[in-house]
Amino acid sequence: MKNRQSWADLYAFEVIRQSDTPLFRQLYLQLRAAILSRRLRPGTKLPSTRELASQLAVSRSAAVAAYEQLLAEGYTSGRHGSGTYISPGLPEPIEGNPQRRKKSAAAAASKAVPMQPLGDFVDVTVQSDQRPFNLGRTLIDHRTLELWRKLSARTFRSLDASHFGYSDPRGTLELRKAICDYLQAARAVRCDPEQIVVTAGTQQAIDIVIRILPNRNKEVWVEDPGYPLTRQALLAAGATVHPIPVDGQGIDVGRGIQSAPNACAVFVTPSHQFPTGVVLSMARRLELLAWARKKNAWIVEDDYASEFRYGGRPLASLQGLDEGERVIYIGTLNKALFPGLRLGYAVIPHALLRPFVAARYLMDRQPSTLSQAVVAAFMEEGHFAAHIRRMRVLYRAQRDELVAALKRQLGDDLTVVAPDQGMHLVAFTRRGLSDNAIERAGRQHGVVVRPMSRLYLAAAPRSALVLGFSGHSRLTIAPAVERLARTIETVSTPSRARQRFAAPKR
Ligand SMILES: Cc1ncc(COP(=O)(O)O)c(C=O)c1O
Repeated sequence: MKNRQSWADLYAFEVIRQSDTPLFRQLYLQLRAAILSRRLRPGTKLPSTRELASQLAVSRSAAVAAYEQLLAEGYTSGRHGSGTYISPGLPEPIEGNPQRRKKSAAAAASKAVPMQPLGDFVDVTVQSDQRPFNLGRTLIDHRTLELWRKLSARTFRSLDASHFGYSDPRGTLELRKAICDYLQAARAVRCDPEQIVVTAGTQQAIDIVIRILPNRNKEVWVEDPGYPLTRQALLAAGATVHPIPVDGQGIDVGRGIQSAPNACAVFVTPSHQFPTGVVLSMARRLELLAWARKKNAWIVEDDYASEFRYGGRPLASLQGLDEGERVIYIGTLNKALFPGLRLGYAVIPHALLRPFVAARYLMDRQPSTLSQAVVAAFMEEGHFAAHIRRMRVLYRAQRDELVAALKRQLGDDLTVVAPDQGMHLVAFTRRGLSDNAIERAGRQHGVVVRPMSRLYLAAAPRSALVLGFSGHSRLTIAPAVERLARTIETVSTPSRARQRFAAPKR
């Protein structure tokens, strides 16, 4: 049984000395209320009368009298020599009844006033083998796991005052230096450690950026189709979001200039557009930089998953081309390592550095020093580069497995192109199949897929499935595609497929 003693020790009892109610009765009433509401649960050990009296600076006899009354009324039971416990088996109080609580919470929520468009988070994803096409899944192999354990243990052994106190809101210098070296070498980013701010990931960086942009109008461009969490974060921050179509060269800058010439920022994924995977062409990069310089606007480059490049000619970061310090470069370790880490970084142009750091500080002061120390050691000692090299090989094999299985089983229904980079692929539907219909049918058959058409805002949607391959074991991919094939069959020829689901082929 869990030791429940500690919660009663921490309970916020208080007494009002000026009150007409005697101190013992105040204590009795508070304890009884805590017991009846289940804030203190049956079986919890109460603090000794001596401890309680000293905590509240009351006489011991007041605490003893309160305990005696509770005991007499059956709220507590005394075990001689081992203290006072809240009686087990007390009836469930009405206000503590979980069923009723749920109902009243639901009623309150239905009356809630809609505030900001905070989006629909029903689909918040918890990654698991049950969701084989889940996006952005990463793999931590045996080697990385062992190293992580070793470095964590070493870090914890050598903790000093710097790890326990408040520290630089930009993150520790050692981690910023390691990130800086990596970005200069791998992504041709122009930076020095002073400009790097460690964040909790892309999401936090975007949130900070939108808060600090000059209050001029907060009109921004986003890619259409695009990453829904970027758009939702921008809307939640009160920005006016202009969807700008993406074609085979990436975001159409000319269309952006036409529809919102005075936007103060554009949010882009140039190295691997989300979700299409298109690389922003050099011509468009230059066009975008020229517009930003002319308009004093900011380009926010989300360079997610750029670590995982499997072939083709890599294009360096857009930030590396920027002579005028108009690009805010955002990267994440939540993909390069693992999402549970919640660490990322941003490279901030000098003009925005102070407000960015100030906003980061106001939000949550600083990143966790302990995680930073482990990641810094992991990077400095060459394990990060080795991890990326190994994951490239694994993710590429997972990509190939998925592409092969899709072509084998769904060649007539889907057109698949193996992407050169990233962690997901796009499979365009054929023969008029609707990605939304597949998604709906999939839910009934335990297959979760993301329809691409839903990621469009104003542009004409294309029907495709966005399927994650990274981090999914090759053994799970073929059976998942088999289920997807059966799902798609229910959409194209409903009656025949129902029979197949009822009696799957052996
Ligand atoms: C376009 C894009 N950017 C960034 C991220 C990573 O975000 P975070 O670092 O907040 O986990 C993702 C994750 O799926 C993504 O799809």
